[in-house]
Amino acid sequence: MTRYERETSTTADGNSMALKKVFVKTYGCQMNVYDSERMIESLTPVGYRETHSIEDADVIVLNTCHIREKAAEKVYSELGRIRQIKAERQARGQRTTIAVAGCVAQAEGQEIMERAPIVDMVVGPQSYQKLPELVFEAETEGRKIIKLDFPERDKFQDLPSRRSPQAATAFLTVQEGCNKFCTFCVVPYTRGMEYSRPVEQVVREARSLVDGGVREITLLGQNVNAYHGEGRDGADWSLARLLAALGELEGLERLRYTTSHPNDMTDDLIAAHRDNPKLMPYLHLPFQAGSDRILAAMNRKHTAASYRLLIDRIREARPDLALSTDIIVGFPGETDAEFADTLRMVEDVGFAQAYSFKYSPRPGTPASMLEEQLPEDVQSERLHRLQALLGQQQSAFNASCVGQVMPVLFERFGRNDGQLVGRSPYLQAVHADASDTLLGGIHPVEIAGANRHSLAGIIV
Ligand code: SAH
Ligand code: SF4
Ligand code: F3S
Repeated sequence: MTRYERETSTTADGNSMALKKVFVKTYGCQMNVYDSERMIESLTPVGYRETHSIEDADVIVLNTCHIREKAAEKVYSELGRIRQIKAERQARGQRTTIAVAGCVAQAEGQEIMERAPIVDMVVGPQSYQKLPELVFEAETEGRKIIKLDFPERDKFQDLPSRRSPQAATAFLTVQEGCNKFCTFCVVPYTRGMEYSRPVEQVVREARSLVDGGVREITLLGQNVNAYHGEGRDGADWSLARLLAALGELEGLERLRYTTSHPNDMTDDLIAAHRDNPKLMPYLHLPFQAGSDRILAAMNRKHTAASYRLLIDRIREARPDLALSTDIIVGFPGETDAEFADTLRMVEDVGFAQAYSFKYSPRPGTPASMLEEQLPEDVQSERLHRLQALLGQQQSAFNASCVGQVMPVLFERFGRNDGQLVGRSPYLQAVHADASDTLLGGIHPVEIAGANRHSLAGIIV
């Protein structure tokens, strides 16, 4: 037992009793969703259980995102609300430990405590495995803690084994960090350099998820297709090889991976979309901008033509593949004609889904220092036009599915009684009237209706 474990009390039958509650709010990408789950798991052995009611929480963790200004600022408005909660709890004689984790923590560190003195702890994305010790220290010693290391020993080795999964789908981080340094992006600074988990470690974690009822795993990484983890033979394995090994797990029905960089779409990964029967026909592949001048200024290291060519090759391997992407509008100096190149790319490729953003200057990134930052109204107008086009494409893709029978993995209850919601192979949300017993399984559904964001179907 470590010293911070003494806080847990033990019942007569020797089981430790959960004494305290932790509330975690997650911002940002799926990797943060994964990290939040792991934070809760790390606190379980020392006597915490998760609460969804922030007022009841002894420990509040904000797992934050720094990718755009709006995302980062949300944290401070939330901390304003939490200040009230902390004061009310204090009036009732209850202590509350406030932790800011994730990418804002890494990027802003000490500054967070200066702006929001109620914060007890700032902990970066590569240090949260230490949360039990840090919470204990904050509680007992009452001092402020800042933990932002990028330790040699990766966090995954020090996290407890997975608790029982809550759903039939799960995220599994296999790669972290990024060495690409796109000029607009904070990720290389907040998450550190690229790192891939060893194959066996990933397979073990996947197996425990599958044993707990998970049927679909999405492998995560800031640049997941740059994965190069140590394989069973000691050599580096590619993502395609990892996907093949995971494909052999009995009970695991579906595999996905996100997010990928176009330059890391290797031949074997493209072939996996043809050959790996568990790999879903869906790919999120950001292109960011349609103009080569802007792509070069972004340091993306691909061109509009190379992206188009890549899409052709992937579609040749898997003709029914549905594509998703990320796009930035209003990068510094982007002209109307250059923005039109982005629209043209969208028209030419056709996306089933997409995320689009106004460029947001981020402190310390090269693009934030460029002159010719565009006015907000220009960005807004471009985003509006782009999103109208993307909306049409998404609606058209969904409409094209009406009449098809699709295997749907039912994940959760719907809003209406007797309704379940699941995912199609193309990641569309599918609603159907279905018995609870179908939850957690894959069942054929005939698609009867579609709108922009979801499909409605009938169990076959
Ligand atoms: N690793 C992924 C994406 C990471 S961030 C990749 O390389 O594609 C997710 C998306 O946020 C990016 O694809 C980009 O479209 C957007 N983004 C990142 N930095 C941004 C910024 N400064 N302003 C606006 N959008 C940004
Ligand atoms: Fe950011 Fe570029 Fe790395 Fe993606 S590839 S995380 S956009 S630096
Ligand atoms: Fe945001 Fe960090 Fe993810 S900046 S998008 S939470 S890697």
